[in-house]
Amino acid sequence: PATGHLACGGSGVGRLPEPADIVREMEETQARGKTLAGKKVLVTAGGTLEAIDPVRFIGNRSSGKMGYAVAQEAAQRGAEVVLVAGGTVALADPPGIRVLHTESALAMREAVLQEAADAAVVIKAAAVADYRPKERAKQKIKKNDAELTLVLEKNPDILMELGARKRETQILVGFAAETQNLLAYAQEKLKKKNLDLIVANDVTCPDAGFNTETNLVKIIGRDGSIKELPLLSKQKVAKTILDAIESLQK
Ligand code: C5P
Repeated sequence: PATGHLACGGSGVGRLPEPADIVREMEETQARGKTLAGKKVLVTAGGTLEAIDPVRFIGNRSSGKMGYAVAQEAAQRGAEVVLVAGGTVALADPPGIRVLHTESALAMREAVLQEAADAAVVIKAAAVADYRPKERAKQKIKKNDAELTLVLEKNPDILMELGARKRETQILVGFAAETQNLLAYAQEKLKKKNLDLIVANDVTCPDAGFNTETNLVKIIGRDGSIKELPLLSKQKVAKTILDAIESLQK
């Protein structure tokens, strides 16, 4: 949908796009063709959910929308897509895509390491929790008058592990959601995690980042290239990310 003034009086995403834009989009899709046919693309999406007890958890604001858009775009281009969703995702499974629902970072790691072995492209859009409660209470924790201290332990960095075992021909793409020093932190992560591309977004920007329909990102390449995109729908951002991946494959 296009963005602008809506019949309900508000403004936002929800307008019927101009017919000319719809036609152009169709022509572009047709012209693009099945450029990823025969390739396995693994995508992770959403936030992980780290249990405190049977009813409570630590989570984050990631909706999974960016990762789902990337998975759908890759499927439209003919790829065999496997989408590993974290526990905070509440989106419908997209048709034609194998979706593996996981809860915690540890469960996501297991699914990802297994599926990444034969994937040509891995895109890690998930917001993986850096820490998990050290102990998961078997019963619901009861309140009392005292303070409650949760001890957290470090989760493994899935993307870092993938980077360490990356095959020559595999393309590894990470995301960096930052609230400050966006470019510097993203470039540092690209190097540290041995990535080919990193998609950086400033999550303090309104309309960008967690649980929004649009995103404002910079795509940074291993070669030092920086592509700054305007505020776009997550579908359009997904297209640009896949175009950047395809140009690396040539
Ligand atoms: O280090 P940071 O969490 O900012 O890096 C973000 C990127 O690393 C994302 O692509 C995310 O999916 C991935 N990541 C991961 N495992 C973690 C933490 C982050 O795969 N434990």
